[in-house]
Amino acid sequence: MAKFNLKVNGQEKQVDVDPSTPMLWVLRDHLQLTGTKFGCGIAQCGACTVHLDGVAVRSCQLPVSAVADKPITTIEGLSENGDHPVQKAWLEIDVPQCGYCQAGQIMNAVSLLKQNPSPTDDQIEAAMAGNICRCGTYVRIKQAIKNASNA
Ligand code: FES
Ligand code: FES
Repeated sequence: MAKFNLKVNGQEKQVDVDPSTPMLWVLRDHLQLTGTKFGCGIAQCGACTVHLDGVAVRSCQLPVSAVADKPITTIEGLSENGDHPVQKAWLEIDVPQCGYCQAGQIMNAVSLLKQNPSPTDDQIEAAMAGNICRCGTYVRIKQAIKNASNA
């Protein structure tokens, strides 16, 4: 076990865990931030996507020891009232079905639009290809990203 000082959603947090513990479990089990979901555990589905220093990463494959002093943002920290432009775009067209994958989808979409505010259809598809939705909400996800973009 070792102590780690983390900055999560703008707050300083300290956890005492095995250095190899994936951030997914630090967030869910130690910090009670359960919006970030476990899907596959092997970086193949995107359900666990959070931002590390503003960039989308898969928290199931990110050991707490690799975070260092970089800020982490989860779906809970994306906006104060669920009113980030991407969240609003999601709500406007009712993107989710069961909802399980959607935190990861939104975190990945926000990261995409930060890097590329006006993505083409192909760029959206390429950027979102690794985020699996078992309910098949892909068409609405793509539309919501377009609505939230400057395109
Ligand atoms: S749970 Fe991390 S990519 Fe699937
Ligand atoms: S909305 Fe159900 S898995 Fe995506």
